[in-house]
Amino acid sequence: MYIPIILGTAREGRQSEKVAYYIEDKVKEAGITTKILDVRDFRIEATTTEGAIVKRYKNEITKAEALIIVSPEYNHAYPGELKMMLDMAYNEYSGKPVGICGVSAGGLGGARVVEQLRLVLAAFGMIQIKESLYFSNVESLFDTKGTIQDASYDERVVKFLKQLKEGVK
Ligand SMILES: Cc1cc2nc3c(=O)[nH]c(=O)nc-3n(C[C@H](O)[C@H](O)[C@H](O)COP(=O)(O)O)c2cc1C
Repeated sequence: MYIPIILGTAREGRQSEKVAYYIEDKVKEAGITTKILDVRDFRIEATTTEGAIVKRYKNEITKAEALIIVSPEYNHAYPGELKMMLDMAYNEYSGKPVGICGVSAGGLGGARVVEQLRLVLAAFGMIQIKESLYFSNVESLFDTKGTIQDASYDERVVKFLKQLKEGVK
């Protein structure tokens, strides 16, 4: 099974990458092949559905059996660069399971970006799992080696991945 992880911010100093690496480890532990699709590696100047970068991105999404999106909340929504990347594909998403991980510096764990993303993913015809993960207080959630300091997340990730795997036909 192949389930890549979209990392949705290119911000210098982004905390969300710690969440993406943590999820990557957990996905691998579950015996699932994965890799991080980083918005930094799919930069475009303006929205387009054509060109070499779009082709590379579409190939990635075509190969994916399901998707995980790790996104910080920026002004109650998703980063613009994440939307630009998601908009490069359309048909390639259809019918694929997807799970969302929200990230925030505050206590809500990106709850609003998770809801906002659900609208976009519905437009793509993706199968959204019920479980979402909310990484709150992200600046203190990981130590300097990237180890998560709240063990309760491990259990939630297992449930999240179980739902995602069950969604793959
Ligand atoms: C432009 C911008 C807008 C933000 N808006 C929100 C917000 O609406 N809600 C929130 O909880 N955190 C907000 N934050 C703080 C993020 O939660 C914080 O930066 C966190 O570390 C996750 O994002 P990161 O991966 O960019 O570090 C915002 C951060 C930026 C840079």
